[in-house]
Parts: sequence; C-alpha cells; structure tokens
Amino acid sequence: MTENSPARPFLEVLSGCRQPSPPLWMMRQAGRYLPEYREVRARADGFLDLCFTPELAAEVTLQPIRRFSFDAAIIFSDILVIPYALGRAVRFEAGEGPRLDPLDTPAKIEGLNTVADFATLEPVYEALRLVRAELAGEIALIGFCGAPWTVATYMVAGHGTPDQAPARMLAYRHPEAFAKIIDVLVESSIHHLLGQLQAGADAVQLFDTWAGVLSPREFTRWSVEPTRRIVEGVRAKAPGAKIIGFPRGAGALLSDYVDATGVDAVSIDWTAAPSLIRDEIQSKVAVQGNLDPLALIAGGNALDQAVDDVLSSYASGRLIFNLGHGIQPETPIAHVEQMVRRVRDFRG
Ligand code: CP3
Repeated sequence: MTENSPARPFLEVLSGCRQPSPPLWMMRQAGRYLPEYREVRARADGFLDLCFTPELAAEVTLQPIRRFSFDAAIIFSDILVIPYALGRAVRFEAGEGPRLDPLDTPAKIEGLNTVADFATLEPVYEALRLVRAELAGEIALIGFCGAPWTVATYMVAGHGTPDQAPARMLAYRHPEAFAKIIDVLVESSIHHLLGQLQAGADAVQLFDTWAGVLSPREFTRWSVEPTRRIVEGVRAKAPGAKIIGFPRGAGALLSDYVDATGVDAVSIDWTAAPSLIRDEIQSKVAVQGNLDPLALIAGGNALDQAVDDVLSSYASGRLIFNLGHGIQPETPIAHVEQMVRRVRDFRG
C-alpha cells in the first residue's frame, strides 16, 4: 500500500492480512428491513425492474453504507438474473419469492440456451460503475452470482423448496442432462463475474445457499467442481481476482471445498464449530461470518453475547464480520446499530 492509498480493511483481510478490528458488512444488507429501501422498491415496477434500473440499483446499494458505514457494499442484484439472461421466465411474486418455468425433464433441458444474452446484464455493470463513482475509496465493492448448484435448484423446481428435492432427484436420475444445466451456468457465471470485476467490483462472492442438502459425492460433483471451474475461469482472465465462497451448510466438507476451489475466503454460518474452523479453514483462508440473523432480531444481551462469540472465536485470525445468512426483513435497525458499535469497539 502506498502512503496515499486509503486503508482498505476488507481487501486487506482477503489478501491475507488480519485486521485488529475486523471489517464488517451484512449479507442482504440492502433490503426490506430499511424504510428507504421499501420507498425505492415501491417506485420500481417490480423486483427485476429494480435490479435492472442502474440508478435505482445503485441507490439501494449505497443506502446501508450511508446508514452503517460498512466496509463493503454489495451490488444490488439477484442470483436469478443469470437464468433470466438465459431466456428463462423469471418472476418475483410479492411475499412468495421467485417463480420460474420449471426445467425438469431432459427434453426441456435439451432446449436450454447455451449462451446467455449478456446485453441483458449490462444494467448490472452500469450500476456497479455508478456505485464505484460514489463510494469512498476505502470501501470495497462486491459483485456476486449464485453458484451453479443453487441457481440450478431454482431453475429445475421453478421455485424455492425446503430441501431442493426436485434438483437432487433430477441429478440422480438424469446426471448428463443436469450436467448440461451446470455447464451452461459455469460459463455464464465466469462471464458475469468478469463483467462485474471489469465494471469496478473489488471482489466477488459465489452464493451456494443450498450446498448443504447434498451428499458428499454430489457435493463434490455439483458444488465443489463447478465452483473450482468458475474460480479458474475468472482468474484466467483476471489473475488475482478476490473470490469468496459461501457453501452454506457444507459442515465438515468445508475443508475439501477450500482446498479444491482456491477461494480466498469462505462465508460460514452460525452452526460452525469454532476450533475446527480455526484449525482447518482459517489457517488457509479468511473466514466471513457468522452471526445468527435471529440473534440480530432478538437484540439485547443475546445479541451482545452472539457478537462476542463470533469475535472471540475468529478475530484472532483473518475475519470479515458478517451474518451467517441474509438479514431478515423484521430486523430492527437499532439492533444493527448495536451490532456495528460492538464490532467497531473491538480491538484484538
Ligand atoms: O446482499 C445484498 O444486499 C445484495 C442483494 C441480493 C439479493 N439477493 C437481493 C434480494 C443478493 C446477494 C441475493 C442473493 C440471492 N437471491 C440468493 C443467495 C443468498 C441467500 O440469501 O440465500 C438467493 C437464494 C436468491 C434468490 C431469491 N431472491 C429469493 C429466494 C428471494 C425471495 C426471498 C425474499 O427474501 O423475499 C429473492 C428476492 C430478493 N433478492 C429480495 C432481495 C432484497 C427481496 C425482494 C423484494 O424486495 O421484494
């Protein structure tokens, strides 16, 4: 770092340097728990319209930074913009989550476009440029996409399910057809992440929200291997690109994931066993996490204790303080402020 360049704690941790006060951001930090988000959301025609209107997407990306001075902004978008750019019908129905046309037979998969229309995603890149222009130099900007397995679970079922049984079943019954979906997503994801890095993202995160429902063999095939290919494909064109993986629920398989994929950091959830994470994960890469979003809703002593547990478990090593999954809409803003104060006051 030169004398003139500002300290960038989030990127320092990703580059291997522990910070005495861990950098901080929250998954889903732009969202319905913020009145200013709900106000902008009401002005857009729908959720996808919000994602694809650069000025609005940039505005909601910046809202949590203004309020809480986080160390990183994550671009406001969604993992389902890739299926949309592949020509799949994607709708977001109020209170119900995403709806897609199910891609659940080998015959339908045969007809899947193999190349996404990246012009569709141009507004995402424009939003990144707008945010980067507004953002202070010391605050990092994160781009993202869904990992192929998680995106495929929504494409196959057409909606969210508790255990992603439709995609798991299709992968057992028709592995070649399922592999075609994964291959298409690997290529589109590489392209989309490179587009985001080029537009000003300092790091990218791969959300594999549904990794934890896979058996070890399937986890290797459908989560680890596609992620490894994406990391390799991105770094082939953008050497040194900083990449965070979030294989939610990977548990004891997390170490294999880290070794095989080459990510710079992993996001962990609140069920992680601290000594195992310190010995087998944090010794190799940075960890991000892992406050239980329900402790953030609860507030009070439960929240203080949960924050202290994250800090005492992981702040002796490379830590990016975060939640173990996205913040929920009913979270009181005062509790987020309480968490931020406690993390900022910590010096380890
Ligand atoms: O973190 C951020 O602030 C960036 C924005 C972001 C969104 N979705 C905005 C969003 C990110 C990183 C995502 C990722 C995402 N999207 C994931 C992986 C991470 C996770 O939380 O598990 C998944 C599985 C999706 C798919 C998706 N999008 C679902 C299941 C839903 C409905 C759930 C809900 O909370 O309603 C969405 C919609 C969505 N994506 C919202 C937001 C703010 C809520 C929509 C609204 O405002 O009406």
